[in-house]
Amino acid sequence: MPQPLVIANWKMNPQTLTEAKQIFVGIKNAAKKHPSVSVVLAPPAIYLTELMKSAGGAVSLAAQNTHSEPLGSFTGEISPTMISALGAKYIIVGHSERRMIGESNGDVAKKIMATLKARLTPIVCIGESARDSQGNFFTFIETQVETAFEIVPRTRFKDIVIAYEPIWAIGTGATATVEDVKEMQLFILKILTKHFGRTAAEQVTIIYGGSVKPDNAAKLYEAGGMSGFLVGGASLKVTDFATIIVATAN
Ligand code: 13P
Repeated sequence: MPQPLVIANWKMNPQTLTEAKQIFVGIKNAAKKHPSVSVVLAPPAIYLTELMKSAGGAVSLAAQNTHSEPLGSFTGEISPTMISALGAKYIIVGHSERRMIGESNGDVAKKIMATLKARLTPIVCIGESARDSQGNFFTFIETQVETAFEIVPRTRFKDIVIAYEPIWAIGTGATATVEDVKEMQLFILKILTKHFGRTAAEQVTIIYGGSVKPDNAAKLYEAGGMSGFLVGGASLKVTDFATIIVATAN
């Protein structure tokens, strides 16, 4: 079993650095009690510098997005080089909330490469907006995976995390069932194997996101076959997030 990976995606929360520091301290204390779990926090980029001062050890930091170029005239953007220079270790790439505002599969592929070049780990988000009875959503997921990985050298697959986040389960309370999650874990592994070979496929870490809460985390982790979680809403509440960490600890 790979080391469980539990990632907090704070999205555009909380509203002040003071609050961010408070939640961060709580998460760090919870993480310290469970060294078997790899805990990562993705705060808004504006808090990264300050939180970095007390990160390391129990909690690593992630950016929620990056530009695909290392530098240049891109107003409002931040580069993987800047994120790396701060000491963060991960970057979330292709979150559905960014794809919704125009990020394409091609953009996601470029960001994955830029993240790897900066020696950081991309957390590549994939997921369908709805499920249909014909199973067309499987084709949609296959395209997302194939386009994300086709330009990545197979030797780097070990440095990539896929977060399967069905859009219909994000922030809605409608979690995928354990069976849905298990089926998707096997499907992702199957398509990675089909396109890139078994050895490379088995190196990729696959986690689940979408309404992961204290009351469903243990069941999803035990039977869902994924290596961890990407958590939105519940990651802003220390006790909830701590329970999710415990659910994956051995
Ligand atoms: P929720 O846990 O709030 O559903 O958000 C999931 C998510 O989008 C994490 O990236």
